[in-house]
Amino acid sequence: MKKIVLSAIVVAATAASLSAASIAACAGCHGAGFEKAALGKSQIVKGWDEAKIVASLSGYKAGTYGGAMKGVMLGQVKNLTDADIADIAKQIAAMK
Ligand code: HEC
Repeated sequence: MKKIVLSAIVVAATAASLSAASIAACAGCHGAGFEKAALGKSQIVKGWDEAKIVASLSGYKAGTYGGAMKGVMLGQVKNLTDADIADIAKQIAAMK
């Protein structure tokens, strides 16, 4: 199981390098529609509004938000600009 998750992350990370604001990199942990608890730990992000997603992602980047596994998310957001975060939040909030 662990191996499957890790290879999914590698694939996702490769896809992410094509576009900084791609949410493809998130699917390995959060599910393609953000319907899963990432690594069994995160809250389910699907259904969140844009402002809440921006606040959490910016918070992970700044080190002011998160739980026991926030280091995982710091790795995901540390190279994103504020514009990337806004774009990502818009894409996730638009998911139905
Ligand atoms: C390697 C697995 C992994 C990847 C890839 C990943 N996340 Fe996460 N994400 C997590 C975990 C674990 C948490 C909970 C961290 C914590 O303890 O705060 C989380 C939390 C979050 C939260 C806040 C939910 C909460 O529990 O407060 C958001 C929003 C989020 N991730 C968005 C994203 C986005 C957007 C991407 C892609 C750019 C992404 N994640 C990629 C594992 C991942």
